[in-house]
Amino acid sequence: MAQYFATVARGLEPLAAEELEKLGAREVKPGFCGVEFTGDRALLYRANLWARLPFRILLQLNEFACQNADDLYRGIQKIDWQPYLTSDQTLAVTATGKTQKLNHSHFTALQVKNAIVNQQSATLDSRSNVDTQDPDVRVNVHISRDRCVVSLDSSGDSLHRRGYRPAMGDAPLKESLAAALIQLSDWQPDMPFLDPLCGSGTLPIEASLMALNIAPGLYRDRFGFETWPDFDVDLLDQLLKEADACQLADLPAPIWGSDRDADIIDQARTNASNCGVEDQIAFAQTDLADLEAPSDSGVLLCNPPYGERLGMESDLGAFYELLGDIFKQRFKGWTAYVLSGNKALASHIGLKSSQRIPVFNGSLPCQLMKYELY
Ligand SMILES: C[S@@+](CC[C@H](N)C(=O)[O-])C[C@H]1O[C@@H](n2cnc3c(N)ncnc32)[C@H](O)[C@@H]1O
Repeated sequence: MAQYFATVARGLEPLAAEELEKLGAREVKPGFCGVEFTGDRALLYRANLWARLPFRILLQLNEFACQNADDLYRGIQKIDWQPYLTSDQTLAVTATGKTQKLNHSHFTALQVKNAIVNQQSATLDSRSNVDTQDPDVRVNVHISRDRCVVSLDSSGDSLHRRGYRPAMGDAPLKESLAAALIQLSDWQPDMPFLDPLCGSGTLPIEASLMALNIAPGLYRDRFGFETWPDFDVDLLDQLLKEADACQLADLPAPIWGSDRDADIIDQARTNASNCGVEDQIAFAQTDLADLEAPSDSGVLLCNPPYGERLGMESDLGAFYELLGDIFKQRFKGWTAYVLSGNKALASHIGLKSSQRIPVFNGSLPCQLMKYELY
């Protein structure tokens, strides 16, 4: 059994813990911006392939008391690095957190790198080169309250970059946040789903991947663990085959995405085609003012522009009023969810929300507001 830590966006820790438990994680403990859990190597690969919320899954190697650069160097050298990194492999070190005397993450990372390559030079006569962009092995150190946790990053590129979205709209949601918003809503795969402000299509695409039981990691070039010395290619192949075999052919209920911008709708279609769901989602160029409910009931989920990133706040009040009017007049029987980072703007919707769930969009505190439309 190994000790793992999945990094997630602030506020999503309990939801990510639930997701990891369903994948077979043991001793699951939500923390701050992450979830601790234990499991075997198959769980590590499965979590990378299937978890929709985490950014990275870290394999913890050691933890030690650490106040200054000497403590750090000694603690890193106590680890035998040979099983984790051969001298012909490239290395990168990422450092987060600080102590009073170790307060520059660049220096911390450099100290860790030196401790590792000096151990290699002393025992092997050769040492790893540094490659910060695409290393074979990425070491992560986190320093907090005079303790240092040393881990290997099993994911490589952040897991939210699924690989299906090279084309992007103006202010796309991170794929992992889109997946979280869908999980926070009451939507189930057998319910119709609509995003009328879909931009690059992230919400409809993530909902389709969930409804079709498609693993979000299937479109990645590679996972970080694939260049580890202990990489088990047969295990990953088996998990990939299982993931292919358990996909559904068709959605249980329709999923729609629309936006007023024709170019962005083209991007959304390209993104959907990159993960093979272009025939499943009905994308259309529609202005919000012309939107009609495509069925008697369903879940509408959207993140309208909120001034910080798109457009001017003053013009947006009228836009939110229109959104509220359309909900009221044309979407009776539906449940609508709106992600907003601006409370004053959201009040222009003019409807009473039945729930407000706090979430972070990057560093921006937001709320996912729920409206039950009778
Ligand atoms: C914040 S973005 C949504 C981003 C999207 N969730 C994504 O992940 O790419 C808001 C979207 O609302 C669209 N929009 C703005 N005004 C609109 C209107 N009147 N009718 C339809 N879409 C509109 C914009 O074109 C933009 O794509």
